[in-house]
Amino acid sequence: SLTIRNDIPGNATSPIQYGMMYEDINRCGDSGIYGHMLRNWNFQASDAGEKPTTEFWSAIGDGSSIELDIKNGLNDANTNSLRLDVADSTTRKAGVSNEGWWGLRVQPGEKYQASFFAKSTGYTGPLNVTLETSDGTVVASAATSESLTDEFQKFEVSLESTASDVSIDNLFVVSVDSAEAAGSSIYFQVFSLFGETFEGRENGLRKDLAESMQGLNPSFFRFPGGNNLEGQTIDTRWKWNETIGPLEDRLGRMGDWSYWNTNGQGLLDYMYLVSLQYCLFRSHRKQYKMCEDFKIEPILDVYAGYSLTGVSVPESDLEPYIQEVLNELEYLTGPADSTFGSLRAADGREKPFNINYIEIGNEDWFSDTYEYRYKAFYDAITAAYPKAKIISTADQKSRLWDIFDDHYYANITEMKSLFSKYDNYVRNNTAIFIGEYGTHVNGCCNGSPANLEAGLGDAIFLTGMERNADLVHMIAYAPMFKREGHEQWNPDLIHFDTETVWHTPGYYVLSEWSKNRADTILQVDHTDGEFGPLYWVAGSNKETKQVFIKVANIGDSEQTVSINLKSLAVHTEGIARVITGDSLDLENSKDKINVKPEEYIFNLNSASDFEYTFSAYSATVLVLHIQ
Ligand code: AHR
Repeated sequence: SLTIRNDIPGNATSPIQYGMMYEDINRCGDSGIYGHMLRNWNFQASDAGEKPTTEFWSAIGDGSSIELDIKNGLNDANTNSLRLDVADSTTRKAGVSNEGWWGLRVQPGEKYQASFFAKSTGYTGPLNVTLETSDGTVVASAATSESLTDEFQKFEVSLESTASDVSIDNLFVVSVDSAEAAGSSIYFQVFSLFGETFEGRENGLRKDLAESMQGLNPSFFRFPGGNNLEGQTIDTRWKWNETIGPLEDRLGRMGDWSYWNTNGQGLLDYMYLVSLQYCLFRSHRKQYKMCEDFKIEPILDVYAGYSLTGVSVPESDLEPYIQEVLNELEYLTGPADSTFGSLRAADGREKPFNINYIEIGNEDWFSDTYEYRYKAFYDAITAAYPKAKIISTADQKSRLWDIFDDHYYANITEMKSLFSKYDNYVRNNTAIFIGEYGTHVNGCCNGSPANLEAGLGDAIFLTGMERNADLVHMIAYAPMFKREGHEQWNPDLIHFDTETVWHTPGYYVLSEWSKNRADTILQVDHTDGEFGPLYWVAGSNKETKQVFIKVANIGDSEQTVSINLKSLAVHTEGIARVITGDSLDLENSKDKINVKPEEYIFNLNSASDFEYTFSAYSATVLVLHIQ
């Protein structure tokens, strides 16, 4: 039996207990959450980070051809262009087409915004912009209102789909009347195509993937990595200043996960992402203030002089790298008339952001230079931003930290022992940030399925962390996304392809644990031996007047538990949110969701005593309403 002790004081939880860790891995940036639908849109490098090519583009119209033109660049960031040499064709159509990221999704009635820069030698008419099925059926079309000249100019059009079904076997086409333009050359650079983005933001997020993030009810957002912050080499680190401003000024880089990153989604775009809110849940329950009152706390991870081939910036050379971070912080937080704050204002965001959490590096236990690097970054950052909470990623003795980032990629046996990892941990006014966690089934981090076993491992882990919520202030899963078939790390929380998105059992566990938040963790006394197969935590929330009992059952049989609420009287109708299945191997796929939360109403015998039977292989949140 479990006795939930409201008769003695509990431990306060952190207001930002659950959140998100994001980096571009598993093709989840350019081909994922970043809503830009075109591939190789500015010809800065090949997908593999080699010399630029025309890959993913084709010529339309017999006789017409395309080539990468290195003499007709748009600007310093884009020093070449896609040249179309027009020949008259039997179809009277000549143009360029892009195949998108493993297809291009067209949805019934969806509106699209397209833009590109173009100029021509020999043709001065307008351009047609179309979305077409691969067999040439036009499903959206618009013509530019301006005509081409011999100088680059930006063209923008809006399109609306007339398609009756969702499809991905489509092309983006820009074309001319080949009879009128025959013999001319047309030069293109910096294309963009967006469908409906999250909250309609320009250069924004793919809506369905952003809604998946919302579904985690996140309170913080750690970015931009992970490994993808650090670069394989010092020079290929993520550089904030190359990710801001108009798309035509951004420089891509070779990402750490073996593919080119365009940086079309940059620092300011990430900051707008922190305006994601779980409004539906909050207003639906009418338990909270309006969602406008809420915000997601950015956890800014800054490059700290270490890159993944094991190279560190020597102590004597750190100064410019530290200055780079101070400039980044001024860009985000400085007044609009400061040197870097004025760049932010020019980029459309007058009002400074607050950056309350700064993480120095990532997983710096890999290096033996963190002592001097942490000290140098810590001193400079805290001198300029004394109120910021500083996160250390490895044990070092040079300076203190406010928060320590621990990462756990573990199998279920290890998750069971991590359950109590922080029970007797010294509380010394610092906090723990679980910046990355995930349960693997057959070894980290290749090919391990995101099945029910992994989800229940996560539930055991989260439950252990919540029991220590006075110490463990923030928790995030990693990696958050994978494009199906392009994963580089398994398991992952949210799976998607060009057409759609689906969620893993671990996603649902995190979502339930995050949506049902206690402000106080209550002591639970138990009489039936140790943890396992049941793992539990209980807490209450003053504002919502709720008690939450979260239980993972990793056993293959159901478990009936008598529960006594001490000094608590609740309504005798409770809610159970249950994630379960009859086999640990169950996985969700695009075609079949086998595991997802189900809600049940159950009756309690009395206001403070009841029995509940936890299903085999289950993660359950019992929600009780205090009288
Ligand atoms: O989440 C995948 C990787 O795991 C992260 O990039 C890194 O921080 C960790 O090693």
